[in-house]
Amino acid sequence: MTEIIDGNAVAESVRNDLSACVDSLGDAGVVPGLATVLVGEDPASETYVSMKQRDCEEMGLNGVHVELEAEASPQELYDTIEDLNADPEVHGYLVQDPVPDHIDYREVLRRIDPAKDVDGFHPENVGRLVAGNPRFKPCTPHGVQKLLAASEIDPEGKDVTIVGRSSIVGKPLANLLLQKAEGGNATVTVCHSRTEDIDEKTRGADIVIAAVGAPEFVDGSMLSEGTVVIDVGVNRVEADTEKGYELVGDVAYEGAAEKASAITPVPGGVGPMTRAMLLYNTVRAASQQEDVAVDLP
Ligand code: GUN
Repeated sequence: MTEIIDGNAVAESVRNDLSACVDSLGDAGVVPGLATVLVGEDPASETYVSMKQRDCEEMGLNGVHVELEAEASPQELYDTIEDLNADPEVHGYLVQDPVPDHIDYREVLRRIDPAKDVDGFHPENVGRLVAGNPRFKPCTPHGVQKLLAASEIDPEGKDVTIVGRSSIVGKPLANLLLQKAEGGNATVTVCHSRTEDIDEKTRGADIVIAAVGAPEFVDGSMLSEGTVVIDVGVNRVEADTEKGYELVGDVAYEGAAEKASAITPVPGGVGPMTRAMLLYNTVRAASQQEDVAVDLP
């Protein structure tokens, strides 16, 4: 029997635990604040950001949303960042990626106060993660780690193949799973567009994590019997639906599920975990900045 890993249920349990932390902060007069910044009108980004704001509302956090026009100058965005860095009610914030081409996202990240960088993308926080002393674990990688733990799948000593080397998922996830720490201690292989014989690397793995951004890239033929399959992909593909598209993962689900011992669906797998871990980092940021101890899950 293939276990279908229920990301909605695990995320709900994380949110329940976080609620107790939000209550403790509230007792100390602190409401954790999360700001989202969106530049331009990318439809997928608009959806993601509105979900993050809805999560804030449901959790009793102070959600702030800033929208800049696609034509906004880099300086306008830098000014917004300076304001958020100085705002005591905003404990964490993120600038949704992608930004328009005339803005350098790396420069944007460098200007974010690392203590408020709840994505964990500031170079200082990336360095701390690589060094094994993370301040904020990036949300999707942390969500994957929690999903595995909740399914009692311990990466220790396992061969993990990650397909995709993005700065948002592949690279930080490789670092997390490699760490000499609980939820880590795996032997990690990272595949990318120049990797030869990807199939060999995925077939040799105990755990395959697809984070390549290509619809149904990993199929059943690339997997060995009994593999754990984690699908990070969310791809909009044209379809005869009301919206004109449907969401498809980086894994061809049907064939993969026949081989897998456990698999995450899309939607309802990693996605809800990413959102839950953003709330986690925001609560952590508030606890650190306000010097109020909380018992994070
Ligand atoms: N775009 C896609 N995923 C993310 C994310 O986790 N954070 C930010 N800031 N932008 C994204």
